[in-house]
Amino acid sequence: MKKLPEPFRIKMVEPIRLKSPEQRQKALKAAGYNLFLLPSEDVFIDLLTDSGTGAMSDRQWAGMMCGDESYAGSRNFFHLQQAVEEIFAYPYVLPTHQGRGAEQILFPCLINKQQRERQGEKSVFISNFHFDTTAAHVELSGAQAINVVTEKAYATEQAYDWKGNFDLKRLAYEIEQHGSQNITAIISTITCNSTGGQPVAMDNLRQVYQLARAHRIPVVIDAARYAENAYFIQQRDPRYRNVSVEKIVREMFSYGDIFTMSAKKDALVNIGGLCAIRQDKALFEEVSSLCVPMEGFITYGGLAGRDMEAMAVGLKEGLNEDYLAHRINQVAYLAELLQQSGIPVQTPAGGHAVFVDAAKLLPHIPPEQFPAQVLANALYLESGVRGVEIGSLLQGRDPQTGEQKCSPLELLRLTIPRRVYTASHMEYVAESLIEVAKTADQLKGLVFDYEPEVLRHFTARFRTL
Ligand code: F0G
Repeated sequence: MKKLPEPFRIKMVEPIRLKSPEQRQKALKAAGYNLFLLPSEDVFIDLLTDSGTGAMSDRQWAGMMCGDESYAGSRNFFHLQQAVEEIFAYPYVLPTHQGRGAEQILFPCLINKQQRERQGEKSVFISNFHFDTTAAHVELSGAQAINVVTEKAYATEQAYDWKGNFDLKRLAYEIEQHGSQNITAIISTITCNSTGGQPVAMDNLRQVYQLARAHRIPVVIDAARYAENAYFIQQRDPRYRNVSVEKIVREMFSYGDIFTMSAKKDALVNIGGLCAIRQDKALFEEVSSLCVPMEGFITYGGLAGRDMEAMAVGLKEGLNEDYLAHRINQVAYLAELLQQSGIPVQTPAGGHAVFVDAAKLLPHIPPEQFPAQVLANALYLESGVRGVEIGSLLQGRDPQTGEQKCSPLELLRLTIPRRVYTASHMEYVAESLIEVAKTADQLKGLVFDYEPEVLRHFTARFRTL
């Protein structure tokens, strides 16, 4: 694969430093073998997440200087609202502090609406795959979260263009099983983070929407990576080859009624989120009422005026096709370097990360000893690179039985921040992981020293077996 040069010049730098192997050993031990507990100073290349870790452009920084910090009616809010309407054609816009802020004000209102209008006796959300905070907000609202992603997503080494797709048969089956009056919403997560930043096809989005319509179920788009999904559609669906990413986004969002967005990803800001509604004014009014006590007044939603301005600019910059071509190419380049050395990765590479199949690389470590966490730790010790476990550790325990859930995939996610690292950083990461893989059979599993009850992966501590 031809690697594309970075389509930007660097005009401000932040030094990073590789600590010695002894210092890394000490730091990891002090962190209880949990990379979330490392001070970032001890990390050389940070691939923990692509969320809020991107670099803003000169134009965004210029926008930051034009913050209108009025409590109500900030002009930056109106710029943001205008950008959302232009890009997505959703006129009802609420800023929130980040994606989960949008989830916490929307989901209770959707549940109320469903209970009122369809007299459901329970509340169920169905998604291709709920992101973990999304599932948490569904459950905190007393509802149930069901995932119906295509089985093809689980065959990591078999290429398939649309590993984020809904399994439409299972979607129809779940609607029938639970009764359409009990389905609060269908959530289309684009791209599908949990299966590897994998795109959802336009046809799939349309069919999901048609099915939802037929059952009068609202569709919420979880839009964190709206631009990457659109770019994949342009590149992989021949009917869209000559259609602009902007137009593709418009069509994608016509297959939804509401969107929640973590703007910390494709919208290229360090903090911020959105909840936007296409037509339902009454719902917007209800969500607005909840926004005030939970996030803040409706024209700031927990953000500074300057943050909203940066988001208004970033929402559009995220659609730039030169930027997207490089972005997707950079992730694919890292995946290719790994594959050439026989490292199993989710294929094809996703939009925001390379997902390494740790179950295949460390077959001697069972799920309950967290193979992907073991691999993440080994990579850190080797190189100072910090990745993140997406597997059984993240899944947690069954709330009823207390049994460790067994994740269908044990993945190490190498998440690439936007516009931050260069091709030579990718090469260093690949070389380091290839080095680790050479002696992977000697790595040992982990057990808990401390296991918190909820969202345990953030603060758990471990010891090596
Ligand atoms: N939805 C998706 C698909 C996400 O990936 C995230 C966050 C959220 C919602 C929540 O947004 O963090 O702004 O509150 N994903 C990050 C990650 C944290 O590392 O994948 P948030």
